[in-house]
Amino acid sequence: MNRKARQLLQWYDTHHRLLPWRIAPAQRLAGEVADPYRVWLSEIMLQQTTVEAVKAYFRTFVARWPTVRALAAASDDEVMRAWAGLGYYSRARNLKKCAEIITGEMDGEFPSTFEGLKALPGIGDYTAAAIAAIAFDRPAAVVDGNVERVVTRLFAITTPLPAAKAEIRATMQAITPEIRPGDFAQGMMDLGATICTPRRPACTLCPVNDGCKGLQGGYPEVFPVKAPK
Ligand code: ADE
Repeated sequence: MNRKARQLLQWYDTHHRLLPWRIAPAQRLAGEVADPYRVWLSEIMLQQTTVEAVKAYFRTFVARWPTVRALAAASDDEVMRAWAGLGYYSRARNLKKCAEIITGEMDGEFPSTFEGLKALPGIGDYTAAAIAAIAFDRPAAVVDGNVERVVTRLFAITTPLPAAKAEIRATMQAITPEIRPGDFAQGMMDLGATICTPRRPACTLCPVNDGCKGLQGGYPEVFPVKAPK
């Protein structure tokens, strides 16, 4: 495993955020495995909504519909009412559609590959990669806004967004380890949310500061560079 991944995973073991859809590293060691239904539901909710706002909705949904079959059996109306307040309601319509397909055509089992996941309604590149990595331990490159910031700083990528997206994805793919790719992706997100923040990043606390090109250049906060609007 590459040095950055090793350092990041070691940091994640003790500094990960406790989130209701996560299996913490200690739980994993004790034999717990991720439930693809919970990973999928959380990632759909997190697409356009903050972690803080998603927590309560996630808990309500899994208490009321603990499995993808239960969600598929709910009425459209019930699901739309439970989603009320989260916004971007096409997500809720696709959620229901996706649950019906998985229940009716896939015997209640989520596909375990990026391609299989991406073929489902409401699942794009980001969400397919996140589910493949977090639920199925596939080394897919998971790139959200936090990861874009961390990667462009680590490698001092000066190409402006959005043109830099392909380069960022390829770089994330190159450092994603075969072992614990889901924890690695979530560790990168947590690093971006808590240490490698948009303003005044806490570089002295960063587990990968020794290899950070952005920090070595003196101005890590200039990354990601954005094209003028
Ligand atoms: N944002 C999107 N997916 C996330 C996850 N699994 N953990 C934390 N933040 C996220």
